[in-house]
Amino acid sequence: MAQAALPVAPAAEDVQERIAAARRALGQRVVILGHHYQRDEVIRHADFTGDSFKLAQLAASHPEAEYIVFCGVHFMAESADILSAPHQKVILPDLDAGCTMADMAEIGQVEDCWDQMTAVVGQDVVPVTYMNSAASLKALVGREGGAVCTSSNARAVLDWAFRRKPRVLFFPDQHLGRNTGYRMGIPLEQMAVWDPNEDRGGLTEEQIRGARLLLWKGHCSVHNRFTPDMVDRRREQIPGVKVIVHPECRFEVAQKADAIGSTEGIIKTIHESPAGTKWAVGTELNLVSRLARECAPERQVVSLDDCFCVCSTMFRIDPPHLAWALENLVEGRLVNVVKVPDEMARQARVALDRMLEIR
Ligand code: 13P
Ligand code: SF4
Repeated sequence: MAQAALPVAPAAEDVQERIAAARRALGQRVVILGHHYQRDEVIRHADFTGDSFKLAQLAASHPEAEYIVFCGVHFMAESADILSAPHQKVILPDLDAGCTMADMAEIGQVEDCWDQMTAVVGQDVVPVTYMNSAASLKALVGREGGAVCTSSNARAVLDWAFRRKPRVLFFPDQHLGRNTGYRMGIPLEQMAVWDPNEDRGGLTEEQIRGARLLLWKGHCSVHNRFTPDMVDRRREQIPGVKVIVHPECRFEVAQKADAIGSTEGIIKTIHESPAGTKWAVGTELNLVSRLARECAPERQVVSLDDCFCVCSTMFRIDPPHLAWALENLVEGRLVNVVKVPDEMARQARVALDRMLEIR
C-alpha cells in the first residue's frame, strides 16, 4: 500500500481549505463519518455524525461511497469495515486512534475467561461485547451465540440475552454492564467482576455460579474520572442543575445523576429540554463544549468536571491527518485502510447483525 509523508505543522486555515478541496474532488466517492467526540475542526467536515450505534448503521447504509473515511477510533472503523459492502474501503486517518478501554480485553484473555466460565456453568451463558472492543472479540461473540451492544442499546441487548440464557458475560466495560444490569433490576450481589489478571478471574466457582451478570474488569479512562463529589459540587454551584452522564461512568456517579445517555442520547435530551434548563454533563469535553455553544443562551451546559476531560485517542484524528488521508485518495493512493480478515469479519458480522436487529 502506498504511503506518503505527513506534512509538518501546516497553518490551520490552509489545512481546512485542503480538506475542503480534496472533499470536492472526491465528490460522492467518499463519505466522511464523525463521532461526537471529534474536535470541531474535524467534525465540521463530516457528512454524518453520530454515536457508535448510529455510525455503525450509517456505515451499513452507504454502499454508493467507494471510501468511508472514519473520524473516530479503531474499533469503530473495524465495525464499519465489517458492516460495509465488500467493494468499500474504510480509512482511519490516524491508525493510532485506539481506545484504552478496548485494549483492556485481549482475545486470549477473553477466550480463557469463556473456557473457564463455561467449565463451571456449562452452556448457560451468553457473551455480550460492548462495541468498544476489537473485531476478534466480536467474532468470538458471534461464534458463541451472543451479540454486540452499544451504550444506546445495552438494555435491549441484555434483555435479549437474558431471554436466551440465565447468565451473561459482559465485556469489556464493567460500568456500562453494571449500570445497565442494575436498572434492569439485577441486584449488585448477583453481579461479579472478572479480573483478567487473576487466576480464574479472582473468583471462586461459587461466585461464578452465583453471578447472573459477570462483568469484565475494564473501564474508560475518560469516564472513570468522574466522581460522585463532582455531582454534589455542581449541584451546590448551580441551583436546579440537572446531571446527565454517559453509562461508562462509575455506578456511584450514575446513581447520583438525573439521567444517563449515550452520546447521541445526551445531545437529544439536552436539545429537547425546556429553555432555562441547566445541565452538568459527564462525558468527553469536545462534545460538552459543542453542546454548550449550540444551546446557549437558552440552556446552560457545563462539564461535570473542571479538568480537561478529552479522549486523547479520539483527539489523534486531527485536520492534518484528515487532509493527508483525503489527498492521498484524490491521488489514487489508499492510506490507513482498516481491513478485518475475512473469516473474523464474517463471525463478527453475526454479532453485529444481531445487535442491529434487536429492538
Ligand atoms: P457512544 O456509544 O455513546 O458513541 O460512546 C462511545 C464511546 O466510546 C464512549 O466513550
Ligand atoms: Fe475509548 Fe473512553 Fe475514548 Fe470512548 S472515551 S473511545 S471508551 S477511551
